[in-house]
Amino acid sequence: MGWLIFLMVILVSAVHGQQQESCLSVEENPYFYFATKTAYEFAAQGPSNTRLQEVPGCEPLAFWLLSRHGSHYPEAEEIKGLQGLMDLKRIVAVNWKNNQRFMCPSDFNILEQWSWNNVTKPGDLTTEGYMSTQRLAQSWKQKYPTLLDGNRFNYLFKYADDERSVSSFRAFTEGLFGAQAESYDIPREHDEKILRPYKFCTAWLKDVEQNNETVSQKAIFESKKEYQDMRSNISKRMGSSYDYEDIFIQRMYEMCRYDKAKDLTKISPWCVAFTRQDLQRFEYAEDLETYYKYGYGNEINQKIGCTSVKNMIEFFNNHTDKDGPQQPRAIIQLTEAPSLLMALSALGVHRDAIPLTGDNYHTNPVQARKWSTSTMAPFAGNIAAVLYRCTPNGNFQVKEEYQVLLMENEKPMYIEGCRVGLCDWSFLKKKYEELINQCDLSVCNSGQKLNSVFGFSLAVIVFLLRYF
Ligand SMILES: *[C@@H]1O[C@H](CO)[C@@H](O)[C@H](O)[C@H]1NC(C)=O
Ligand SMILES: *[C@@H]1O[C@H](CO)[C@@H](O)[C@H](O)[C@H]1NC(C)=O
Ligand SMILES: *[C@@H]1O[C@H](CO)[C@@H](O)[C@H](O)[C@H]1NC(C)=O
Ligand SMILES: *[C@@H]1O[C@H](CO)[C@@H](O)[C@H](O)[C@H]1NC(C)=O
Repeated sequence: MGWLIFLMVILVSAVHGQQQESCLSVEENPYFYFATKTAYEFAAQGPSNTRLQEVPGCEPLAFWLLSRHGSHYPEAEEIKGLQGLMDLKRIVAVNWKNNQRFMCPSDFNILEQWSWNNVTKPGDLTTEGYMSTQRLAQSWKQKYPTLLDGNRFNYLFKYADDERSVSSFRAFTEGLFGAQAESYDIPREHDEKILRPYKFCTAWLKDVEQNNETVSQKAIFESKKEYQDMRSNISKRMGSSYDYEDIFIQRMYEMCRYDKAKDLTKISPWCVAFTRQDLQRFEYAEDLETYYKYGYGNEINQKIGCTSVKNMIEFFNNHTDKDGPQQPRAIIQLTEAPSLLMALSALGVHRDAIPLTGDNYHTNPVQARKWSTSTMAPFAGNIAAVLYRCTPNGNFQVKEEYQVLLMENEKPMYIEGCRVGLCDWSFLKKKYEELINQCDLSVCNSGQKLNSVFGFSLAVIVFLLRYF
């Protein structure tokens, strides 16, 4: 009997010896940074602080939040492709019958057990996405019990009138008020033009979203030999002797991150196809895309994001200008990744000294980049600002009466000129004065490119008229 076991061990290790990769499903320290589909728990590193948020000598007056929705089911247009992974899985199983050396058995078993779950509400919040929104609301309430109280007139909610946003509103208000929230008539607005200004910005749609130049750096990155080698490696890992097309690899990645965000404690089956380095390359590809689409890669993005900063400053202005408590005391905007990224760009945070490009992935600044979609816009990612009134000499670090604490995913935001997220109100107003004064979205009215060419010829004509 002992001999038999010994023989089996030899056999098993012989098979193992020929393996290319170790088991990816039992990775000790797995990589969960999935760009815009990262779960909040993984993005907001360290345990979330749910204690009372105190600034000694200061009292919170007003609360402003811009929050992305939680994890959601695949969108309607993705479903057919993702469902097709069932076929891919069958092919992997056939490969497995012929030659079991391409993948470790436990990885294969996990993948084998995966099956497509019909999506009844495409794009709507998953149960986890709903609960994470509730948790976020409760967490804010625990930090600011005097501001986020039971009086509905202290709130103004803003969210678009689509299914996912409505679910987010329900989840958030349940987190604040409990199960009876639905019967409260909480003040709310649905103006999509305010919530998603980019969708109505002609110049952005034309020059950025529909312009293929926007994804050119991503395309350069994906055309690199390294990226193509990765594609072959992934295909081999699935037992395939030919390289999978990009679209299949993309779908595997989508399923990997959707499943992970849906159930944080379970191994996500399609993730067994990818090494940590693969996941980091996918992450960078999406960082490149968002950098140009919603971030510093195009100047117009900051100019659109100004609307959020302006709203925050004006809201706090209302609370500093007048005596006594004002209503609403809390503005809560439930929105999407682009709004969050544009707002962060307008605030000037997460700005790298050099632009991200398809060529500089392996440089130190890019490996340590500040523009990281996984931490900036994970599911339920959020920016919060709290206005405080401080008593003179109540806190030796605080000199001004009004202070604003800026936070990102419930942690102090790094803002130049502030102390761990805490800024003098006059400093903050000054810092964003120019941005806000020019924040009329006139930049949206015409094509940026046309504009600059036109502007140039006009200047030439004016010059000619004046001097000749
Ligand atoms: C899932 O959806 C497909 C196509 O829409 C349908 O044929 C199938 O019966 C559904 N399965 C379940 C379990 O609902
Ligand atoms: C962008 O689109 C134009 C016209 O469709 C095409 O000629 C050009 O090659 C494209 N550029 C890139 C980078 O894909
Ligand atoms: C592909 O796999 C080989 C062999 O395991 C490895 O040396 C190489 O670094 C991988 N390349 C990429 C781009 O992942
Ligand atoms: C500030 O107060 C004015 C007057 O009450 C109101 O119209 C405006 O909407 C408020 N602005 C914000 C951002 O709350």
